[in-house]
Amino acid sequence: MKTLVIGTGGREHALVLALANDPGVTEVHAAPGNPGIAADATLHAVDPMDGAAVAELAVEIGADLVIVGPEAPLVAGVADAVTGRGITCFGPTLAAARLEGSKAFSKEVMAAAGVPTAGSLTCTTPDEAAAALDAFGAPYVVKDDALAAGKGVVVTGDRDEALAHAATCGTVVVEEFLDGPEVSVFAVCDGATAHALRPAQDFKRIFDGGRGANTGGMGSYTPLTWAPGDLAATVLETVVQPTLDEMVRRGTPFRGCLYVGLALTEAGPKVIEFNVRFGDPDIQPVLATLESPLGELLLAAAQGRLAEVPAPTFRDDACVTVVLASAGYPESSSKGDVITGVGAANGVNDVDVIHAGTAIVDGSLVTAGGRVLAVRAVGYDVDDARARAYAAADLITFEGMQRRSDIAAEPLGVVEGAAARD
Ligand code: AMP
Ligand code: GLY
Repeated sequence: MKTLVIGTGGREHALVLALANDPGVTEVHAAPGNPGIAADATLHAVDPMDGAAVAELAVEIGADLVIVGPEAPLVAGVADAVTGRGITCFGPTLAAARLEGSKAFSKEVMAAAGVPTAGSLTCTTPDEAAAALDAFGAPYVVKDDALAAGKGVVVTGDRDEALAHAATCGTVVVEEFLDGPEVSVFAVCDGATAHALRPAQDFKRIFDGGRGANTGGMGSYTPLTWAPGDLAATVLETVVQPTLDEMVRRGTPFRGCLYVGLALTEAGPKVIEFNVRFGDPDIQPVLATLESPLGELLLAAAQGRLAEVPAPTFRDDACVTVVLASAGYPESSSKGDVITGVGAANGVNDVDVIHAGTAIVDGSLVTAGGRVLAVRAVGYDVDDARARAYAAADLITFEGMQRRSDIAAEPLGVVEGAAARD
């Protein structure tokens, strides 16, 4: 099977590595990719937002399966352009990608499907937002209705800060605060049905102890040994299947990855948000411990015949991913800082250095974004994987590098949830 992965970040690099490990996959192509992906796939200089160009590339290379990684091209309809040329594509249509593209839409679908989630009010004026904040009380949760590259959500105890954020957005969703450990469950969906992957946790705040600004994710791990063993099955039954059924009822079936961000509250798992793609970095450790072939699973989902393939299986191993971010992240990012030590870290057994925001300039590997690299290590348990990940990360340096020192040191939620309540 020839595969083509669209996107340029750590998620796409992790997908490429997993596909390269699948004996059923003969060729891995990527567009536009990055310097790390270049070692594991054939790169093509195509704009991921240009559906016609992506579809043309897929036809040219004779791709059997295209995987569209990030949300922006999915919300822009790139998967529709690819399937429009008769090529199988893993990733939702423009209509189904609204589950991530509009928070208000996803809330509407959850309500219709009876999915457990935070109570919410959609507001279009400052007065409505103020009334909604007072209705739910502190801590306040304010979400930009539209895609905002991870910057749309403010969780704060400060009413003025919550109001100020609402004022910078158009339509906002004001929500009830959900208390409890936060987990990511990835469901591979074929429109009618789904298989869940192993749950993971993603540490979202920039500083240790869950302090500082929200980021795209500073590290992740799996398995969640402290969580209920039937968590993925519960989420399939109470969240994913009702959502798929509701999307079918609306005439816009969902094919692709439904990424369910949940809080494990005292009243059971409740949805914090839906995304329509794999999470980054949370999918990275999940893919490293996947035992069954990824290509076959995604192809079956994209072709609407998931029931024909067995549920994915995972090795007993654990995996931890530590993100290395550039100076200024998440408010800004520093570009052009020379990176050293990637080869040495990548050479360590059971370690992969995953590239996100890197570039080659004058023959040197340099920073080119906020989250620059992720060091991913497999171990026999979470503590072992964590020690291996940090030992390998110690080999890498660049000016202004930021990383957390407490990824997977204890379950997230207790700590980060407490920080949000400050
Ligand atoms: P999102 O961009 O939707 O992933 O939200 C960013 C982060 O804000 C989430 O990962 C949570 O940590 C937090 N968050 C979002 N919604 C809620 C909520 N209703 N209750 C508590 N925390 C939330
Ligand atoms: N790690 C969070 C996300 O992918 O949205």
